Amino acid sequence: MVLTAEIKTVGIVGGGQMGSGIAQLALVSGMDVWLFDLDSNALTKATNSINSSIQRFIDKGQLSQEIGSGAVRRLSCTSRLEDLQSVDVIIEAIVESEDAKKKLFSDLDRIVKGSAILASNTSSISITRLASVTGRPNQVIGMHFMNPPPIMKLVEIVRCADTSEETFMTVKTLAERFGKKVICSQDYPGFIVNRILMPMINEAFFTLYTGVATKEDIDSGMKLGTNHPMGPLELADFIGLDVCLSIMKVLHAGLGDNKYWPCPLLVQYVDAGRLGRKRGIGVYTYEKVVEPKLS
Ligand code: NAI
Repeated sequence: MVLTAEIKTVGIVGGGQMGSGIAQLALVSGMDVWLFDLDSNALTKATNSINSSIQRFIDKGQLSQEIGSGAVRRLSCTSRLEDLQSVDVIIEAIVESEDAKKKLFSDLDRIVKGSAILASNTSSISITRLASVTGRPNQVIGMHFMNPPPIMKLVEIVRCADTSEETFMTVKTLAERFGKKVICSQDYPGFIVNRILMPMINEAFFTLYTGVATKEDIDSGMKLGTNHPMGPLELADFIGLDVCLSIMKVLHAGLGDNKYWPCPLLVQYVDAGRLGRKRGIGVYTYEKVVEPKLS
């Protein structure tokens, strides 16, 4: 199995808001990156957002010109999964769907070299079930970054039933090379952060749905009343309402309590395509589609 010191090439699967940010972290840490997405527009957007974010870090004096230029040159984009065959570690950040992730893990298991680790950035889905479709469950692990990955200091590492100690130590050291603080969770729905955060966001939707207060007052209440930097509805728009709903469904199915029932208003917004900032409309309306700032 590959060890952290041997990690030279990272494969990132899914070039959306999370995948592009994780790719940036690997690039500025000196690694070569293959970024895979089925959608070529997503790859173009990801490349532009990585390049402009790295430039902002350089402009602010937080990154040297030399490291920044090297990072940009080491990025390769592809829509052919076979191009990932020589990577040392995969970090998967595709849509939050168990079926889609299982299909991908099964394909990757056939394609990538036997020593490669398969990590998932899933917010809530069972790592054990993803591992079960591969022939290397001891090399499968959860590596859950926070949004936006270049800024947020935390990585939540999730061991599945079979994750080996070597895999855990390699991924922990990798996260530390990215400059992150690591916390560890057992493999239960939502892990630590989303087990606590998502019911709060869902409750904010119920508060709005039942007419208790306006969206502005709900967000102000939590910002000024509990010192959160963003209100829960504003945060939901930032995360993506589709991602929030998928996580609530996983919590509801996996923990079986009515308190995890997704709010009908959240469901309705997602049905209407109101997915948050990435679509220009969610709980709030944005003048233009707001690309997440990675720096
Ligand atoms: P996103 O919607 O911005 O990006 C997903 C990307 O995956 C898209 O570019 C899409 O074209 C691509 N994709 C979808 N299916 C694919 C497939 N089968 N193969 C290759 N590419 C595929 O989503 P986002 O927000 O980046 O989330 C990705 C993952 O990260 C999800 O599992 C989510 O739960 C997790 N996550 C999201 C956070 C957030 O705040 N949005 C925070 C932490 C984790």
